[in-house]
Amino acid sequence: MNFNNVIFLMGVSGCGKSAIGELLSQRLKIPFFDGDDFHPQSNIDKMSLGEPLNDQDRYGWLVTLNKLAKQQLLNNSCIIACSALKNSYRELLSTDIKNQVKWIHLAGSFNQILERVNKRENHFMSSNLLQSQFDTLELPEDAFEVNISMTPEDIVIKTEEFLEMKSEFGLFGLGVMGKSLSRNLAQKGFNISIFNREEKGTEEDVAIKFKGAHKELESAQPFSDIKAFVNSLQTPRRIMLMVNAGKITDMVIEDLIPHLSDGDILIDGGNSNYLKTKERYDYLKTKQVHFIGVGVSGGEEGALKGPSIMPGGNKEIYNLVKPYLESIAAKDANNLPCCTYIGEEGSGHFVKMVHNGIEYVEMQLLAEVYTILKLLGNNPDNIADILKSYKTKVNSYLLGITIDILRKKDGEDWLVNKIVDKAGNKGTGNWTTIATAELGIPSTLIASALFARYTSFYKEERLLASGNFNIKPSALNLEVDAVLNAYQFARIINHYQGLKLISQAGKAYGWHLNLSEIARIWTNGCIIKSDFMIDLIPVLKEDDNILNHKSIIDQVQFLKPSINQVVSECVLKELAVPCLSESVNFLNTYSTANSSANILQAQRDYFGAHTYQRTDDASGKYHHTNWQE
Ligand code: 6PG
Repeated sequence: MNFNNVIFLMGVSGCGKSAIGELLSQRLKIPFFDGDDFHPQSNIDKMSLGEPLNDQDRYGWLVTLNKLAKQQLLNNSCIIACSALKNSYRELLSTDIKNQVKWIHLAGSFNQILERVNKRENHFMSSNLLQSQFDTLELPEDAFEVNISMTPEDIVIKTEEFLEMKSEFGLFGLGVMGKSLSRNLAQKGFNISIFNREEKGTEEDVAIKFKGAHKELESAQPFSDIKAFVNSLQTPRRIMLMVNAGKITDMVIEDLIPHLSDGDILIDGGNSNYLKTKERYDYLKTKQVHFIGVGVSGGEEGALKGPSIMPGGNKEIYNLVKPYLESIAAKDANNLPCCTYIGEEGSGHFVKMVHNGIEYVEMQLLAEVYTILKLLGNNPDNIADILKSYKTKVNSYLLGITIDILRKKDGEDWLVNKIVDKAGNKGTGNWTTIATAELGIPSTLIASALFARYTSFYKEERLLASGNFNIKPSALNLEVDAVLNAYQFARIINHYQGLKLISQAGKAYGWHLNLSEIARIWTNGCIIKSDFMIDLIPVLKEDDNILNHKSIIDQVQFLKPSINQVVSECVLKELAVPCLSESVNFLNTYSTANSSANILQAQRDYFGAHTYQRTDDASGKYHHTNWQE
């Protein structure tokens, strides 16, 4: 190990400094000094009378140890065991050699240490002596903490990895999100390794250049070689993949496997499909590698300043990466991390996928509100003013960015007027619609929003149809407050459907999901963060079905007349409002006690003898009728 440091092993009496110091000395092949051997006689006499030392007693002793450290550093590294309980003691020990000192804190609970000491032969420590040690201890901010519940051998291995400057977290893939997360991790003080592949001409020296561009990355280790990247990490390795979902993720996993050790952890932070996450989870288990599927929401800025993080997989393994993910996550209104263990297998990616489904609808609803307000004769600035006035009732991240978008000028015109109206998508809304169909959940708004994007993509056909059918929406007769109410109504239905989908998936897949916690981590950092989401936290504590909660029922009943009026007016004036109209159709359908599905059953039985139940037969038996007799 080519370094020139003094390693101070610190901690309260009984934490095992001497034993670890000896083992570490053998492992690192550098000398070990037990600080207790350097007390002046006066201290030894005092301690043998059972009298605790005071700061004055310790001053001379600490100066002696500082001199010993300086002397050793002249030609070697060394290890010195010293309780060094106070910051002032550690300052004294580090005098003149601060940047060559490494602090290793052997940490344990009061009971752990008392039990351990009292178990040793002819060793007894009074609990009040140990208590006074804990009372004196000022936790070090810059020490590498190792818990003494580990075996001495593991403590030594972990310490060696730390001393080898091995990174504690690896970030694989320096795209937009990967770079933001790397910077976020570094800003929180984590020692990280960052990796990006080398592609001649397109991706050269990406990690090195990225490190050089940001001060917070000065201690990050950049790599373009996978083996070197993996070997730069402490075990169990924690590697977060920020690469494109799909085949790329599988290819990266295959590239990594040969270099990984049993117990390493891969964290997939991409927008991966939850079914693929389950497959990867099972596949990597056969390779003794753990896999955590993590939804990360918040875009480039969110990833840098604090995303919402939705991890799923094995909970014990999650706990090994929890400190890192919770540290970089956004904080909610109570300063709690917007990161919580979602559930088993691919549940984290599933919840992220539904987040995107809700996001598609929120975006589509804002687009529809924009078309209505535009048809009421407003230019983009006027619409921005109206949306701004909505903030007190329906504030959200997406409302905020839409206001910014509408303000953006491009020369004399507004930029938004120059953007081609063909919406793209990366697939998450598609997956959500497939999932909702496969699970038999009527998340009709997500499908409507997705298909509205698909319809927008057929621009040429739409131009043709516009001429063929001469659809020219005429002036609307609506109040802006009615539009606001209609918008909030549809948002309530959107959130109900998205949360219903999550709830049903949890039941179907045996995930133990906590909807209130999911809403909580969606109150900041993510794209769908909103005041309404904050309101949903207590609602979901009481009932997974928000449409069955009195506060929501009251809102829906208040808003219903407005959505009826707005959708009717838009339909009559031939303005397309797919999600607004679907929201009122859904609630009407959802609230219909006796629906027309009896006709469907009859039709199915007529041509397919699929049978039907009778309202006057409580047995639930299925019947068939020969309809043509
Ligand atoms: C987020 C966003 C993000 C989104 C991409 C692509 O939570 O940060 O949802 O992950 O998926 O911006 O979105 P599209 O599917 O609309 O292309």
